[in-house]
Amino acid sequence: MAIRDILIIPDKRLRLKSEPVKAIDAEVRTLVADMFETMYAAPGIGLAAIQIGVPTRVVTMDLAGKEEAPQPQVFINPEIVSSSDEKSVYEEGCLSIPEYYEEVERPEKIKVTYLDLDGKTHEIEADGLLATCLQHEIDHLNGVLFLDHISKLKRDMVVKKFTKAAKKGVAPSLAKDKEPSHHIG
Ligand code: NI
Repeated sequence: MAIRDILIIPDKRLRLKSEPVKAIDAEVRTLVADMFETMYAAPGIGLAAIQIGVPTRVVTMDLAGKEEAPQPQVFINPEIVSSSDEKSVYEEGCLSIPEYYEEVERPEKIKVTYLDLDGKTHEIEADGLLATCLQHEIDHLNGVLFLDHISKLKRDMVVKKFTKAAKKGVAPSLAKDKEPSHHIG
């Protein structure tokens, strides 16, 4: 296992559409192990493979609270098969857009199909943090960032700051007027 570098915007690879996993082999198992190690080290509660530069439809997640035992979850080829009309708003952050948090509105409940590491198909109904996190990570697999769900004005400001910082090789200067409530991934 290894901790891998997490891609940061404006890295163009974050806009790639990831390819489905065809076979759950040793390569996929190593990828998943590396993703967990990278995610826990960050720390984050979710990670999509493309965030470590691998354009494959794999998501890792652990939504356990700080006092709880770890609850690692793997979603291979996850797909949203239905979404509720009801929306909910959640403050999101992203390991590829460090230190930036913004409220995002998404469907409150979703139904998702995916494969586990044994290749078994599952269908789950998700709400709350799981629904938010799954939508955020599945967006990554499609080259979509949570920035795409906020106003263009805010998005342009954030992208500009990160682009400028990347050129200088420093951390972007973001206004920190509030404590982050949730790191998503
Ligand atoms: Ni993210």
